Amino acid sequence: MTTKSQAVLDWIDARFPLTSTIKGHLTEYYAPKNFNFWYFFGSLALLVLVIQIVTGIFLVMHYKPDASLNASGVPVAFASVEYIMRDVPGGWIIRYMHSTGASAFFIVVYLHMFRGLLYGSYRKPRELIWIFGTLIFLALMAEAFMGYLLPWGQMSFWGAQVIVNLFSAIPVIGPDLSVVIRGDFVVSDATLNRFFSFHVIAVPLILIGLVAAHIVALHEVGSNNPDGVEIKKKKGADGHPLDGIPFHPYYTVKDIVGVVGFLIVFSFIVFFAPEGGGYFLEFNNFIPADPLKTPPHIAPVWYFTPFYSILRAVTYPLFGIDAKFWGVVAMGAAVVIIAFLPWLDRSPVKSIRYKGGLFKLILTVFIIAFFILGYLGVLPPTPGRTIVSQICSVIYFGFFLLMPWYSKMDKCKPEPDRVTG
Ligand code: HEM
Repeated sequence: MTTKSQAVLDWIDARFPLTSTIKGHLTEYYAPKNFNFWYFFGSLALLVLVIQIVTGIFLVMHYKPDASLNASGVPVAFASVEYIMRDVPGGWIIRYMHSTGASAFFIVVYLHMFRGLLYGSYRKPRELIWIFGTLIFLALMAEAFMGYLLPWGQMSFWGAQVIVNLFSAIPVIGPDLSVVIRGDFVVSDATLNRFFSFHVIAVPLILIGLVAAHIVALHEVGSNNPDGVEIKKKKGADGHPLDGIPFHPYYTVKDIVGVVGFLIVFSFIVFFAPEGGGYFLEFNNFIPADPLKTPPHIAPVWYFTPFYSILRAVTYPLFGIDAKFWGVVAMGAAVVIIAFLPWLDRSPVKSIRYKGGLFKLILTVFIIAFFILGYLGVLPPTPGRTIVSQICSVIYFGFFLLMPWYSKMDKCKPEPDRVTG
C-alpha cells in the first residue's frame, strides 16, 4: 500500500473500525476448511436478498397500489404491472427477476435449513443463529404473502381472502383481528395499501435486521462444518484453529462458484420459464382480481403448500372450537417447532456423518412426508388426499416431538478429533 493510501486508511481507522472489521470478519475470520456444496446456500440467500431489494426498488418506481378501476375497467395495480411488463424499458426483466427471486429465495433457504438438519448446525453453541434463522423464515413468509397480493390478480385477491379469513377462526378476537389485518370487511384497496407498505418497508427492515443478527451470532461462535467438529478446540501455535482457513480469500472465491452456478439456473428460469410451469407465477394471476368471481381452485404458491396442507389436514373441532382454528394452530406450530430443534436433538454427535441408521431413516421419511405435503397443498382436497396429508402431518410433528428419544437411542459412530475433509 502506498504511504498516501495508508495515511487515508489510518485516518479512517482512527474514527471507524474499518481494518479491524475486515480482519475480524474476512481476512482473519477462520472458517472450517471442509465446507462443501451445502455451504453455498447462506451466501446465496444473501445474494437473493440483494436481488429482491434492488429489483424491488425499481418496481416501486412504476407500480401503483390502487384497486380502483381505470378507464378500461382494469384495476390500476394490475394495469401498472402490465405497464411494467410491456412499456417500461427493461421492466419485464426486473419483474421476472423479482418474481423468480421469490421462489429462488425459498429454494435456497429450504436447502440452507436442510444443511442445518444434516450437520446439526443448530446445536450448542449455535442455538441463537438457528432462532434468528427461524424468525427470518417467518418474516420471509410474511414478505412473500404480502408481495403476492400486489399484482392484484385473481390468485392475489382470493389467496389473501382465504388466508386472512383463517384469522377470523381465532376465538373471541378473530373476527376483529381479520378486520384489522384487511383494514376492511373484505380484501380491498385498504388491504392492498397496507400490504404494500409492509412489503416494501416494514418487513424488509425486519429481515435485514434479522439477517445482520444471524451473521453477527454466527461470527461470534464460528461456523459448524460437515463433520460437526468444533475447530476452535484445536488451535496451532499462532492461535488459529488448525482446521480453519481465512474466510477471505478462500471462501469469498469459493462462494463465487456457487454464485455462478446459481445465476446460470436463475437466468435460465428468468429468460425461458418465468412462470415456472405455473408454480412460480400461477396462471390465474394473469387475470385481474374480480371480487365477484371466485376461481374454482385456490392454491397458495408452492413454498407455502407444505404448511397449507398441514392446515387443511385438521378436520376435527376440539373443545367446541372450529377445526379451522386448530388448523391455523397446527400450521403456526409447524413453523415455530423448528426453533426448538436445538433442545430436541439429544444425539451425542452433530453431523449425519456420525449418526446411526435410525436418524437417517427418520430424516428420509420426514423429507418424503414434507414433499408429499407440499404436493398435496397445490391440489384440491379429496377424502383420500386428506387422509394422506393427516398421516404426513403426524410424521412432520413426530420428527420433532419424538427426537429427544430417537436421537438418544440411535447408534452413533464416534466423532473424530479433527475435520476429515
Ligand atoms: C434471508 C435468509 C438467510 C440468510 C441471508 C442467511 C445467511 C447465512 C449465512 C451467510 C451463513 C454463513 C454461511 C453458511 O453457513 O452457509 C449462515 C449460516 C447459518 N444459517 Fe442462515 N441465512 C438465512 C436463513 C436461515 C434460516 C431460515 C435458518 C434456519 C432456520 C438458518 C440457519 C443457519 C445456521 C444454523 C447457520 C450456521 C451453519 C453452520 O455453521 O453450519 N439461516 N446463514
